[in-house]
Amino acid sequence: MKRVAILAMVVTLAAFGIASAAPAGRVTVLCSPNPAWCDAVKAEFPRATGIAFDFVRLSSGEALARLRAERQNPSFDVWFGGTGDPHIVANEEGLTEFVRPDAWNDVRTELREAVSGPRGPMYIPLYAGILGWAINERLLKEKNLPVPRTWRDLADSRYKGLVAYPNPNTSGTGYTLLATLVQVYGETAAFDLMKRIHRNVAEYSRSGAGPGQLTGRGEIAIGITFVHDAVDQVLQGFPITYNAPSDGTGYEIGGLSLVKATPNRAAALAFINWALTPAAQSLAAERGQSYQIPSNSKTAVPRTAPRFQDFKVIKYDFLKFGSQSVRDGLVKKWTEQVFPLPK
Ligand code: F6P
Repeated sequence: MKRVAILAMVVTLAAFGIASAAPAGRVTVLCSPNPAWCDAVKAEFPRATGIAFDFVRLSSGEALARLRAERQNPSFDVWFGGTGDPHIVANEEGLTEFVRPDAWNDVRTELREAVSGPRGPMYIPLYAGILGWAINERLLKEKNLPVPRTWRDLADSRYKGLVAYPNPNTSGTGYTLLATLVQVYGETAAFDLMKRIHRNVAEYSRSGAGPGQLTGRGEIAIGITFVHDAVDQVLQGFPITYNAPSDGTGYEIGGLSLVKATPNRAAALAFINWALTPAAQSLAAERGQSYQIPSNSKTAVPRTAPRFQDFKVIKYDFLKFGSQSVRDGLVKKWTEQVFPLPK
């Protein structure tokens, strides 16, 4: 009898949101890094703040397409991660807005400056990562082929069927490659090179991590990907190495943006502030299989994170190559002039 009364009381209080630890709101996030990091955030953010958390994982280019499609009625409050170029486009198109997080002054100065234009920052830097490649040296040895050193080496016909890179329409990694080659060689020579590399490409993957996975499984020998995604494969025990071309490589400044039309601004801002804390950023390497350089200078850099000083990294022009006209123009040109070519 007594038990029934207690149960009835709990049910009544819960109905008024009193008895349970009712979440203080809910935030729905478009999550573009490694899904393992999104899962770790889903486990920790509600614990830290009492705010419920949902996410959908989409690659950077797909995420931008989704935000564009949902302009009038967004289903997301925040966009977490992904390469910076579509964050800049989204800001330019009024889909997202820059908000100054509590930890803004702790965000590495060089990252803040690189994403700031005449009207101020276009998004909040979340991490930085270097473009390179995963290499299956065992497979190369079997085929009696040398380890490539430069982007130009990838056009050598001896690598036919042994190269993969992500499609720049869906993947921010794929776009970073396109923008990098244009910055290293100039647009005409870069497209000429991509046309020649195309003959060797076994697969254009949807996501940026895809080529590293194909390399790990020995389906291809050279997967163009962010070096930290190759590190993930190495730490999972796949027999690969990683490197970046000696003729210069690009990098990303991963983004964090508030979706402008969100009706859920308070919960969204709470998420953004939490995401910049060292405790939240440490989750990436500890539980999220993500080994980028964290943007908050107070977050410890993971031991396994590839370091900028170990590679020849170009002075990447984020504002130019993230602008809508340049980005959409290069992706369109690749789609029309490179992708459909016979192999
Ligand atoms: O897997 C992590 C990661 O490489 C991030 O560093 C990057 O921002 C994102 O994936 C890019 O993914 P995609 O190329 O699929 O857009």
